[in-house]
Amino acid sequence: MTSNTQETGFDDRMLSLGLARVSEAAAMASAALIGRGDEKAADQAAVNAMRQQLNLLDIAGTVVIGEGERDEAPMLFIGEEVGTGRGPAVDIALDPLEGTTLTAKDMPNALTVIAMGPRGSMLHAPDVYMDKLAIGPGLEPGVVTLDMSPAERVEALAAARGCKPADITVCILERPRHEAMIAGVRGTGAAIRLITDGDVAGVMHCAESDITGIDMYMGSGGAPEGVLAAAALKCMGGQIYGRLLFRNDDERGRAAKAGITDLDRVYSRDEMVTRDVIFAASGVTGGTLLPRIRRMPGWVETTTLLMRSKTGSVRRMTYRSPV
Ligand code: FBP
Repeated sequence: MTSNTQETGFDDRMLSLGLARVSEAAAMASAALIGRGDEKAADQAAVNAMRQQLNLLDIAGTVVIGEGERDEAPMLFIGEEVGTGRGPAVDIALDPLEGTTLTAKDMPNALTVIAMGPRGSMLHAPDVYMDKLAIGPGLEPGVVTLDMSPAERVEALAAARGCKPADITVCILERPRHEAMIAGVRGTGAAIRLITDGDVAGVMHCAESDITGIDMYMGSGGAPEGVLAAAALKCMGGQIYGRLLFRNDDERGRAAKAGITDLDRVYSRDEMVTRDVIFAASGVTGGTLLPRIRRMPGWVETTTLLMRSKTGSVRRMTYRSPV
């Protein structure tokens, strides 16, 4: 046991396989709902399965990023205690189905996502938007920043990589609020991969740009998804910056409830995820990161990306279960 493990009781190596099972179970449960046009049913199936598996783990877990506040989410709500209660005190960030619409419409890159770390290791992000900017590993910290314009970010990344802006591909959520950003990036000659949903996967694509073809992610999306993406990049390598965005007093109130006082703060990856964590994501509809779930008479198969930030280990594990 390392000293960190002794201090927190968080044995990431032992817990990681359990985390993969949790992620797999959620994906398996949503398999029959791919392409059925029912987002809620797909999400509910993933939530039920994830919760059931989490409760088998010997942890004293608290959901810090979850399905929402207790009054709006009957299960896996923020603050819910999960696990057997026998074991280390851990914080859990989860999205049982990241890309509910992608699943309902059978479009690429819907994933089940979960991260776990010692108590206090992850930002308790309120359910508001976050302005996000991410790039992959091997670049100087701060080579791109949220304060730069979209065009400046492309130019700075191209200069750091020793290539032309036209060689850069940026991933952006296709939303009317991103029109100016899209125009700014296009003005540099860079390519844009527009996605309709699923920005955790969008950010993760930056960490494997040789496979995915994505060099940078930018734009606003859910703050909880920002913390999950930071946990993924802490394991895979890469930078992410996030600034919470507030549209009204209700949203500012949610930040206050989460203990956030500096509303303009820019969080780096290691400020969103302050200690070593483990992360698992399983492919549902599949895409460039993970294959889709396969269903044949008698069995279902899903592939899980299982990672530990302490070692930087990245595993892809395929699980076939009889049904
Ligand atoms: P759900 O899976 O909960 O539907 O979220 C999908 C998602 O695309 C996230 O990946 C992203 O952060 C957020 O929604 C974007 O929000 P909005 O659709 O309001 O732009």
